[in-house]
Amino acid sequence: MTGKAIITGGAGFIGSHLATRLKAEGLELTLVDNLSTGSRDNISELLDDRCRFIHADACEALADDKLWDGVGQVYHLAAAVGVQRVIDDPAAMVHNNVEQTAGVLDAARRAGASVLIASSSEVYGKCPVLPLREDMELVYGPTTASRWSYGLTKAIDEHLAIDMHRRHGLRVVITRLFNTIGPRQVGHYGMVVPRFVERAVAGKTIDVYGDGTQTRTFCNVRDVTRAMTELMAKDDCFGRVFNLGSDQRITISELADRIIKLAGGTAGKRLISYEEAFGPDFEDPAHRLPDTTRIREAIDFKPQITLDETLTELIKLRREQIAAVAASAGGGG
Ligand SMILES: NC(=O)c1ccc[n+]([C@@H]2O[C@H](COP(=O)([O-])OP(=O)(O)OC[C@H]3O[C@@H](n4cnc5c(N)ncnc54)[C@H](O)[C@@H]3O)[C@@H](O)[C@H]2O)c1
Repeated sequence: MTGKAIITGGAGFIGSHLATRLKAEGLELTLVDNLSTGSRDNISELLDDRCRFIHADACEALADDKLWDGVGQVYHLAAAVGVQRVIDDPAAMVHNNVEQTAGVLDAARRAGASVLIASSSEVYGKCPVLPLREDMELVYGPTTASRWSYGLTKAIDEHLAIDMHRRHGLRVVITRLFNTIGPRQVGHYGMVVPRFVERAVAGKTIDVYGDGTQTRTFCNVRDVTRAMTELMAKDDCFGRVFNLGSDQRITISELADRIIKLAGGTAGKRLISYEEAFGPDFEDPAHRLPDTTRIREAIDFKPQITLDETLTELIKLRREQIAAVAASAGGGG
């Protein structure tokens, strides 16, 4: 593949993996990120004359027409993410997610570029019917419960994108990502797998929220980024919404057990209430399971990497990280 692409949120977890893939496919890249949760370390090995980095808010950088010279695609991943950040400052998250997406869509329309929007399974809210299908009714809790604000911003992003497709012919594809996991994802913002891996490798007790019977699906970031590029390569995917994730469910309690076992079995687990973890009024959907019919029909999507393979890799990487920190502390002393 030749040509140029922009990735907003390019120094983040998924953005940095997508950059690796697109660069390997031969594209010239501009990564834009304000480093609010992303990091230069995620992309330092990629940066050269075919992959440059701009430290800025996405829509501010993309408003510069010079940036678009020869750019055919933009992958819009920049967003404030993580349950903890949403609860700590919902207003900042709402402004960031909606305003950035509006700006990015407008700039892409002016440039005539194709766009991928990284939406979320949070759009479904607490929809009780499983599996979750793209054309289902969306069900949210009251506005006094801040956690629903994130899913609502992603739903508004989808409305903006679909309107831009219908009225201006923008070539835009929307991916509703379910839990995506892999190297470089961090646990500080409430992401469950890195949090559990960190505790299990340290031999410390894992906190499982609620009664642990809630179920989720987890898909390796390499499978997710491959699907993103394949969707963007097919004309009949534009103007459409696609669930993107694994359809293999696991309870969060079983996930903790699986990670403890793969890490050698010395850590324990305990249940703590949502109220203790996130304060009053916090609700969490009991189950999340995507219907993947649409994406299978579009690009024959089937995740290649199993949950155990991903967890084993993450445990190994965490151990290497700890050893590297210990070695550099030892060397410095
Ligand atoms: N990881 C998941 O399981 C998951 C699930 C559903 C949806 N998503 C979506 O995928 C996208 C990427 O998420 P991620 O997991 O890689 O998280 P991440 O926090 O690692 O990536 C988001 C990136 O966007 C950057 N950013 C935030 N606001 C910005 C702004 N205004 N301008 C420029 N950069 C900005 C952050 O610094 C970060 O690097 C997000 O849109 C997220 O909502 C992720």
